[in-house]
Amino acid sequence: IEKRVDDLLSRMTLEEKILQLNQYTMGRNNNVNNIGEEVKKVPAEIGSLIYYDTNPTLRNNVQKKAMEESRLGIPIIFGYDAIHGFRTVYPISLGQACSWNPELVEKACAVTAQEARMSGVDWTFSPMIDVARDPRWGRVAEGYGEDPYTNGVFAAASVRGYQGDDMSAEDRIAACLKHYIGYGASEAGRDYVYTEISRQTLWDTYLLPYEMGVKAGAATLMSSFNDIPGSANHYTMTEILKERWGHDGFIVSDWGAIEQLKNQGLAANKKEAAVYAFNAGLEMDMMSHAYDRHMKELVEEGKITMAQVDESVRRVLRVKFRLGLFERPYTPVTSEKERFFRPQSMDIAAQLAAESMVLLKNENQILPLTDKKKIAVVGPMAKNGWDLLGSWCGHGKDTDVVMLYNGMATEFVGKAELRYALGCRTQADNRKGFEEALEAARWSDVVVLCLGEMMTWSGENASRSSIALPQIQEELAKELKKVGKPIVLVLVNGRPLELNRLEPISDAILEIWQPGVNGALPMAGILSGRINPSGKLAMTFPYSNGQIPIYYNRRKSGRGHQGFYKDITSDPLYPFGHGLSYTEFKYGVVTLSASKVKRGEKLSAEVTVTNTGKRDGLETVHWFISDPYCSITRPVKELKYFEKQSIKAGETKIFRFDIDLERDLGFVDGNGKRFLEAGEYYIQVKDQKVKIELTD
Ligand code: NOJ
Repeated sequence: IEKRVDDLLSRMTLEEKILQLNQYTMGRNNNVNNIGEEVKKVPAEIGSLIYYDTNPTLRNNVQKKAMEESRLGIPIIFGYDAIHGFRTVYPISLGQACSWNPELVEKACAVTAQEARMSGVDWTFSPMIDVARDPRWGRVAEGYGEDPYTNGVFAAASVRGYQGDDMSAEDRIAACLKHYIGYGASEAGRDYVYTEISRQTLWDTYLLPYEMGVKAGAATLMSSFNDIPGSANHYTMTEILKERWGHDGFIVSDWGAIEQLKNQGLAANKKEAAVYAFNAGLEMDMMSHAYDRHMKELVEEGKITMAQVDESVRRVLRVKFRLGLFERPYTPVTSEKERFFRPQSMDIAAQLAAESMVLLKNENQILPLTDKKKIAVVGPMAKNGWDLLGSWCGHGKDTDVVMLYNGMATEFVGKAELRYALGCRTQADNRKGFEEALEAARWSDVVVLCLGEMMTWSGENASRSSIALPQIQEELAKELKKVGKPIVLVLVNGRPLELNRLEPISDAILEIWQPGVNGALPMAGILSGRINPSGKLAMTFPYSNGQIPIYYNRRKSGRGHQGFYKDITSDPLYPFGHGLSYTEFKYGVVTLSASKVKRGEKLSAEVTVTNTGKRDGLETVHWFISDPYCSITRPVKELKYFEKQSIKAGETKIFRFDIDLERDLGFVDGNGKRFLEAGEYYIQVKDQKVKIELTD
């Protein structure tokens, strides 16, 4: 590949090189009569396009122009946001994280890759691995929650799923870790705003998932919008990513992010913005038109060098070669039926949805609904397609979605009678539907109340000042409660919610997130008891908005016994890791291979888990480390490893954590230097805490 890149570079003009460093958009207008028009707009030498279509023929026509009408015939790389599925839409990433099942997430990403590549897309702008601790920020839906290690594990799983061992395969695509870096720290949960991040926090919180994703082989990264500045930061893009981690792919800017350096007050004009971004190490300009317009002048003026241009083009071409685009520039034309909703893809969608769902509450074992003959299925999410898809749902359509009511109807056929009522819309003042809902409740043995958020309330540019559901939905719940029948609350949403008013009303609460096309039957399967729930929260549910930000791995307080809120509890409603099962898991005593270790020695910990209930189940063990005293203070505890296993009723399984002293007991300083201090550490599993002594 390097020889072929050298050869091309030696033959390319400056103009041709510059175009390789730009990404334009195309698509959405692919009616056969317009294909010609669409193709005409694209320069034959363009490096990349965001491809909004699913039609291989349109892609092939554009690619043909690049291959045949440009002097050197360099193929275009087509990118697209396939975040939690391409057409077969999976649960949102935050839900996926609650499955604690990276192998399953890898499989879902492999399906996304297959559908995307067969539709003319070579590259997805995914995974998003921004650690996020403010649920008001709409983009918490797109990532894997509040914990750095969890984001890192799912980053690596996604990269493996998208790219496989060889991204030139016809069912694989290039991954893109985003948004590099610290975008999740958006102040007050608002999008695009300033992020205040110390070097220490940059390293111990935000960089870890990227390091893990880069190690897994991610071909590209996307620079972030936030003013750290994400898109003009030499330290993060060049020193850390390229020099320390040895990443040899390229970085694409987020949409218009180079131009936005002007709005942020860094650059006086677009040309200056181009200098800042390019000199910091940002190779490709997504839709700022800063590089295409100004780079030539900048080279001539000596503000950027030819060597830098060559190095950047090399990185872009390298990824194109690795994708096999020079050998196979065109996408074989296939029907949608051949590409989408393959039975196996739908099975993965159902399994991932099932494992992502979190049973938050189950008072008096109201669930599963084994003896209920009349079920009222009520609420704005019950017969709803779009909102189950969530934000960034690729090419998903509402008509692809199995609706919750339909899932219930299939699941309970012959077992219970169902009655549906809307009750109210997601957000409205109109209470006209309440009476019908109350009537259904009076008739029923149990009410399954399906509430939640619209798909547009999370994702990009979708912050909310309050994470409570709209008042009308809470009112509907209150009125239903008065009827006196048990209430099973099913929640469809893209972020943790404020549930302190709904919680006392509900006998059971099942969080199903935005579960995608095939989540309805798994949801109903959990309610019926066919499926034993196993999801656990990857993000804390605050008691109320006022607690935000609240997350498990906070630093310790100077006065642990004081400093609480005077008006509300200081505890979250549902902590990180919370999630109930229909069976009981009994943990044995955590044992260590040694309680005293020296640097360089090996150490492992084990715990047995026995399923003492009557049902088979899946259990995730979370292994935390804490370091009570350290020259740089550390969080109360940090997740270092997790494992999920299926455990049959009556069976005992061993969970084991092989501890790498440097990696798991050590810590990074504000410049990424890893250190390990002698002293005591604790390993924590559930409520057990076991001491380890480390000596020099
Ligand atoms: C802006 C979003 O921030 C980013 O996540 C996305 O990949 C790009 N637009 C391209 O659609």
